Amino acid sequence: MNKPAAPRPVTAAQIRRDFNDPRAVVHYTRAAHELGLWASERIMLDRVLPPPPAADFPILEAGCGAGRVSVALHGLGYRNLTGFDFARELVEQAVFLATERGADIAFHHADATKLGAESLKRGAGSGEQGRRKTEPGAGSPKIRPAPQHPPSSSSSLPAPRSFLFSACLFMFNGLMQIPLRRNRRRALRQLAGVCRPGAPLLFTTHDRDHSPAERASWRLEARRWAAGKRDPRLREFGDRRFEDHCGDTFMHLPDRAEILADLAATGWVHAEDHLRRELAKESAAVRAFSDECRFWVARRAENFPKHT
Ligand SMILES: C[S@@+](CC[C@H](N)C(=O)[O-])C[C@H]1O[C@@H](n2cnc3c(N)ncnc32)[C@H](O)[C@@H]1O
Repeated sequence: MNKPAAPRPVTAAQIRRDFNDPRAVVHYTRAAHELGLWASERIMLDRVLPPPPAADFPILEAGCGAGRVSVALHGLGYRNLTGFDFARELVEQAVFLATERGADIAFHHADATKLGAESLKRGAGSGEQGRRKTEPGAGSPKIRPAPQHPPSSSSSLPAPRSFLFSACLFMFNGLMQIPLRRNRRRALRQLAGVCRPGAPLLFTTHDRDHSPAERASWRLEARRWAAGKRDPRLREFGDRRFEDHCGDTFMHLPDRAEILADLAATGWVHAEDHLRRELAKESAAVRAFSDECRFWVARRAENFPKHT
């Protein structure tokens, strides 16, 4: 009998396959249809976004999955929404849901680590009920804000600034599902490159220090790494690979210092951060869907270089 192949370090391609797995697609699609926004998300979104419809305030949702957050924002009245995700199956589900709800949202198929500054120049089309999709890969996907709704009365061409997003969201830990810190930093830089100065970035991560039990488990993990006994699929300390009802999942769990350093290095100025439990008591349904996390708000630095 052949020996089973040795486990390999996780790759972005593997993670994308995990999110395209039918179990993950069902999980995130069900949440988009039935769960909507968490109480803590509502609180933080209210803090960083102007009141709806905010038609001249283009909002970008990275890692939009099956559309849970963007479609809910549309339901609250927001009218300038763009979402993208690198898992094609999830983008398809987001498009279906937006169409079903009559939500005019531009959804793209794109990788947060490969948005490319060029995409701003070339531009993309409009948000028509989530039908639009661009492709990730070598060529830069063309992510830019959808046109204003209702259309601006001005007939002049939009100023370059209007090609930048006014806010960016990366909800439910999507950024931490990018393997390797240098790639997460690349994604943060790419997102800064498509946002206007001062734009808020709202995202969540786990937190290795959020409870005594969590801290103890990471002390044990540190001993495993020091003894050369770590899971060979993991790339960096803080990584976790586990299997649950939505299949294989990769997650990087940072500590607070790591995220502060990553923001500072990538064109973002830290504004605030809070553990979820400090913000709201979530329903049982939300707690079954997601565990404790930290909400982060950063602002796009004023002098961030356009090309990164
Ligand atoms: C935990 S899911 C959250 C989905 C959705 N935001 C929600 O809250 O239901 C994380 C999402 O991030 C996406 N993602 C991970 N890495 C990505 C990348 N490099 N580019 C774009 N999307 C990515 C995954 O495909 C997945 O849809």
